[in-house]
Amino acid sequence: MKTIQTIAIIGASGNMGAAISKSLAKGNYRLLLCASEQDKVQAVADEIKKSKPAATVETVDCAVDASWEADIIIAAVPYAAEEKVAQKIREVANQKIVISIANPLNDTYDGLVTAPDTSAAEELQKLLPNSKVIKAFNTTFAADFSTPVIDGKQADAFIAGNDGEALQTVSELVSTAGFNPVIAGDLAVSGTLERMQLLLIQLNMKYDYNWLAGWKILHR
Ligand SMILES: NC(=O)c1ccc[n+]([C@@H]2O[C@H](COP(=O)([O-])OP(=O)(O)OC[C@H]3O[C@@H](n4cnc5c(N)ncnc54)[C@H](OP(=O)(O)O)[C@@H]3O)[C@@H](O)[C@H]2O)c1
Repeated sequence: MKTIQTIAIIGASGNMGAAISKSLAKGNYRLLLCASEQDKVQAVADEIKKSKPAATVETVDCAVDASWEADIIIAAVPYAAEEKVAQKIREVANQKIVISIANPLNDTYDGLVTAPDTSAAEELQKLLPNSKVIKAFNTTFAADFSTPVIDGKQADAFIAGNDGEALQTVSELVSTAGFNPVIAGDLAVSGTLERMQLLLIQLNMKYDYNWLAGWKILHR
């Protein structure tokens, strides 16, 4: 029998952390929700328990404790907070999958703060050299999680990383969340994925998609 994976969501009180937590509660996972404001993260857990009483969800007030218990860690925090989070969890994230969802946007949303030859995910990998950093969920808006099928089409969610087994594991998470997983390549592809989301954000603001928009590769 497959053992139930434990997933720590750091930043579970935020837009993305809450959306990811709620969507993964559809799967057979143990979810550890973590954020600094306990009342906010407890509200997310309560909402999950109300809609899915069988879900295994707990709140943990410390990212280190949650990551220590977890098989998979999702860093659902702003890019600017990743270094601090990485320093805290480095030891306990050893050999574990750490999902980078960050888009390192500048303050005016018209560029990225990362250098052209790197990405938020690659920077996180440097900070966590003994973890398997996987890029995922950065090309999906938080609002898409309640409606991953847009205009009759299931939105794609791109994944990048250097470890084949970890990519498969994260593909299953993405499917559970309701998106079509597309493994785009190794971690170096993350820069492209982060720029794709910068473009989608700009298009969203220009054409008023109301944050309900996503990518879909059409193919046969
Ligand atoms: N919003 C989207 O549609 C979207 C889509 C794709 C990717 N993303 C990416 O997802 C990440 C989160 O975005 P968001 O929109 O969910 O932001 P958000 O609503 O502001 O949530 C941020 C979360 O991070 C936590 N946090 C902030 N600083 C922290 C620190 N130093 N240590 C630990 N936790 C910290 C916050 O909790 P406390 O306030 O309790 O610290 C909060 O739970 C960003 O990297 C963003 O680029 C967002």
